[in-house]
Amino acid sequence: MPERTIAPQSRPEEIIVDAALRPRTLAEMIGQDRLRENLTILIQAARGRNEALDHVLFYGPPGLGKTTLAHVLSTEMGVGLKVTAGPAIERAGDLAAILTNLRQGDILFIDEVHRLGRAVEEVLYPAMEDYALDIVVGKGPSARNIRLKLPRFTLVGATTRLALMTAPLRARFGAVYRFDFYEVAAVEKIVRRAAGLLQVPITDDGVAEIARRGRGTPRVALRLLRRVRDFAQVKAGGTITVTVAKEALALMEVDGLGLDTLDRQVLGRLIRDFRGGPVGLETIAAAVAEESDTIMDVVEPYLLQLGFLDRTPRGRVATRRAYEHLGEPYPEPAQPSLLTENGAS
Ligand SMILES: Nc1ncnc2c1ncn2[C@@H]1O[C@H](COP(=O)(O)OP(=O)(O)OP(=O)(O)O)[C@@H](O)[C@H]1O
Ligand SMILES: [Mg+2]
Repeated sequence: MPERTIAPQSRPEEIIVDAALRPRTLAEMIGQDRLRENLTILIQAARGRNEALDHVLFYGPPGLGKTTLAHVLSTEMGVGLKVTAGPAIERAGDLAAILTNLRQGDILFIDEVHRLGRAVEEVLYPAMEDYALDIVVGKGPSARNIRLKLPRFTLVGATTRLALMTAPLRARFGAVYRFDFYEVAAVEKIVRRAAGLLQVPITDDGVAEIARRGRGTPRVALRLLRRVRDFAQVKAGGTITVTVAKEALALMEVDGLGLDTLDRQVLGRLIRDFRGGPVGLETIAAAVAEESDTIMDVVEPYLLQLGFLDRTPRGRVATRRAYEHLGEPYPEPAQPSLLTENGAS
């Protein structure tokens, strides 16, 4: 199977290049204009009052800059940053240890915040609300509660699945921001900036070609840039032109809209095996032998954005545009009785 262009986790090479490419300040960040404006106000207000930032929650598809923005916030506020993730905090005691090590104003970034355990979340509620840690000392009849004071810190949470967060946790964030896919123009700027930092010669139409197929996602566009750079270096004397970009992307099986093999498999199965749906997520995942989380987090958001897919209560449905993109004939809308016969599981 060809390389996935949008795996949620970063590979080692990516982490190193990432550190070099990551915007460090809000001004350096490209795109997400509304979000940046909101954060600028949030930051200025907190600084003006000499207070810690309110707790902030970021949600949206992977690779759009949630982690990056947590780093930016700490730089802009001039405070420390502690990075962790929901699944990494196994017991309530782990979180207590982290919280008691924070300093005044510090940012605690919890990635995949929807994956915190119940007991851990319970510790977080008073910590977020009252900057307090409730602990039980002793056992049996002599056990008693004591409350430790915590420094005023800022919790920055990130999630690709807002719906999986518990209501009490969500309610404790003072500001909740959604990340949208980037406009192609913004992705172009990001690609151009990265090519400059990586010292890769690239033409304007080369930038445009990569950006157009970057699925509105900086991580994906930057990954395509690195692969096209390899191709240009080995096959074309180093410069990325539009022709070089097209050849390299064709070799990677990334199509004109940025869909890769998995995206096309999902649509293809949906259309050919399930007559366009409706079909359940688990069934699709099984049909393409992929985890349903990957389909839901990585594949679907972009297909929905393109208008290739509809989510209905009975399952996923391929739209006319999806048929057209795959070059499949669009069937006349089926009667409801025919739909049930198709077995929408
Ligand atoms: N606005 C931006 N301008 C330039 N580069 C960006 C921007 N946003 C993100 N990037 C780059 O995109 C990559 C992915 O960003 P990041 O890791 O912050 O995404 P994420 O939303 O945290 O993803 P995940 O949900 O998978 O954790 C990084 O290499 C980062 O440098
Ligand atoms: Mg992240």
